[in-house]
Amino acid sequence: MNNSYECIEVSIDGKLGCITLNRTKVLNAINRQMVSEILSAMEGFEENEHIRVIVLSGNGRAFAAGADIDEMATDEAIDFEVRNQFKDWDRLAMIKKPIIGAVQGYALGGGFELALCCDLLFAADDAEFGFPEVNLGVMPGAGGTQRLTKLVGKTKAMEWLFTGRRISAREALHFGIINRLVSKEVLMEETLKFAAEIANQAPLSIRLIKESVLKAVDVSLDVGMHFERKNFYLLFSTEDQKEGMRAFQEKRKPNFKGK
Ligand code: CAA
Repeated sequence: MNNSYECIEVSIDGKLGCITLNRTKVLNAINRQMVSEILSAMEGFEENEHIRVIVLSGNGRAFAAGADIDEMATDEAIDFEVRNQFKDWDRLAMIKKPIIGAVQGYALGGGFELALCCDLLFAADDAEFGFPEVNLGVMPGAGGTQRLTKLVGKTKAMEWLFTGRRISAREALHFGIINRLVSKEVLMEETLKFAAEIANQAPLSIRLIKESVLKAVDVSLDVGMHFERKNFYLLFSTEDQKEGMRAFQEKRKPNFKGK
């Protein structure tokens, strides 16, 4: 594991790969180096067969207060184009292992976009989500308008994006943006407990369920059903399917190996 990161902390807890955003002086503002480090850590966990679930959180009083404004304040359009600004973000979206986000404090702009890249979200009661880009004369660029709209529909997405208004943890729960709302004191404990539960499920089932659900967001029911069916068939070529069904018949707990 690469331990030379400057913007994040990385650790392993059993079957969980943990990434913690760590630029606390700027509320974990996401600069390019941080995105590159997150991607590197996630791809490392992706390749590590012992890691089953990735947990993403932030140190200090924010998950992340957005893209680093200081880094981009003087950028011109062509700088983004030449740099291919969001290439690492695109690769983050291709991680196949489940990602669980634990959000406390602000998840704004790029921070909210990063949270929306997670498959499941736990949030503390002080969590606040939002897209304040409109106040800066810009708009989200790392998937915010797309992922939020697909998640909550046009009506609320438009309102939140037009106003930049913050979404409380309670509202986020109401609109299905987060899975669980817990008190700040137990956020990490509850997130890790849930992550460990997912980590004990059959890894290949989890992998293909993630792929199929994400596909459902983008394609017609007909295409999605076809995609699901092929993944369902594929799981019957795994040892874990044989083990899972044999364990059921023998009335014991299955021992899944991810094979
Ligand atoms: N970029 C750079 N620095 C940031 C930052 C950001 N997104 N957010 C906070 N900081 C810095 C502040 O400049 C401040 O630094 P100094 O101590 O050196 O002055 C430090 O973090 C602490 O912040 P505040 O003093 O402002 O803390 P606060 O509690 O008064 O306010 C806040 C918190 C409401 C989150 C406020 O910091 C804020 O509005 N931040 C900007 C939020 C924002 O606009 N995010 C969107 C960015 S654009 C984007 O994300 C584009 C995209 O889609 C890719």
